[in-house]
Amino acid sequence: MKVRKAVIPAAGLGTRMLPATKTVPKEMLPLVDKPAIQYIIEEAVASGIEDILVVTNRAKSAMDDYFDYAPELEGVLMRSGKTAEHDAVRRSADMANIFYVRQKETKGLGHAVWRAKRFVGDEPFAVLLGDDIMMGEVPVTKQLIDAAVKYEAAAIGVQRVAAEAISKYSSVQISELESKIYKVSDMNEKPAPEHAFSNFAILGRYVLTSNIFSILENTPPGYGGEIQLTDGLRTLCKGSPMVAVDFEATRYDTGNLQGFLEATIDFALKDAQVSDWLRGFMIEKVKGF
Ligand code: UTP
Repeated sequence: MKVRKAVIPAAGLGTRMLPATKTVPKEMLPLVDKPAIQYIIEEAVASGIEDILVVTNRAKSAMDDYFDYAPELEGVLMRSGKTAEHDAVRRSADMANIFYVRQKETKGLGHAVWRAKRFVGDEPFAVLLGDDIMMGEVPVTKQLIDAAVKYEAAAIGVQRVAAEAISKYSSVQISELESKIYKVSDMNEKPAPEHAFSNFAILGRYVLTSNIFSILENTPPGYGGEIQLTDGLRTLCKGSPMVAVDFEATRYDTGNLQGFLEATIDFALKDAQVSDWLRGFMIEKVKGF
């Protein structure tokens, strides 16, 4: 099994980050000096992905522009000797082969993934959610691809969450295969804590096989009236092998304000240009409380 393609569903409405996301796609909000989507694309590329499909909607054309060349800007930067800035602008357009498809109606994550059917064909493919940013030594998508290849199975990224938090996620029924890798036998979307299979939650990274498309085609709307990827994955795991990878990385849900601020502060504290200043600034601020 070789995983060369990835799909980034980024057609959600971003209602948790309004009013900013009224006109700016949440994937384009900056985390220090790069938009969130660039971290996702960098993870995919670092995991060996060659072709990437971004599922967008009519309000998100800023994303296609960002990954295009900007001849006028690049010319000005070159002529004024700002080569570092020029290279950074160019790099964002040269990272991967990026394709786009629109989800014409916001019918849910399962429907957004289904829009990738023509792009994917018969190959296994990775899915990276646009607002889940992961930071670890080994890219999370790579951790999933390695497990998918080893077990010739679909793979989903999971981490343990607090019992009372599981109702925000999908919970999985699992049995251990080896340290950090589990066989998946069932799952449910946003369960009440007493209905959760486990405290392992599915968190924004998947490696799927192409039989998911015919399953999604026959998946009726579920939680919230949307076609849920979890409902499709539930059918998939009952008919085909699927493993859960308890991945090693910190995960930031940048689709809500708290996760967005956590990522911003953590990334800035690791950024050589601003980390010393930020540390001093925060110490001064905290003294005032
Ligand atoms: P979320 O529910 O986290 O994102 O969907 P959202 O709908 O944009 O955000 P809120 O809840 O209104 O603030 C998870 C992922 O699925 C994508 C989103 O872009 C996000 O990456 N998605 C969701 C789609 O691409 N299409 C949809 O119809 C729904």
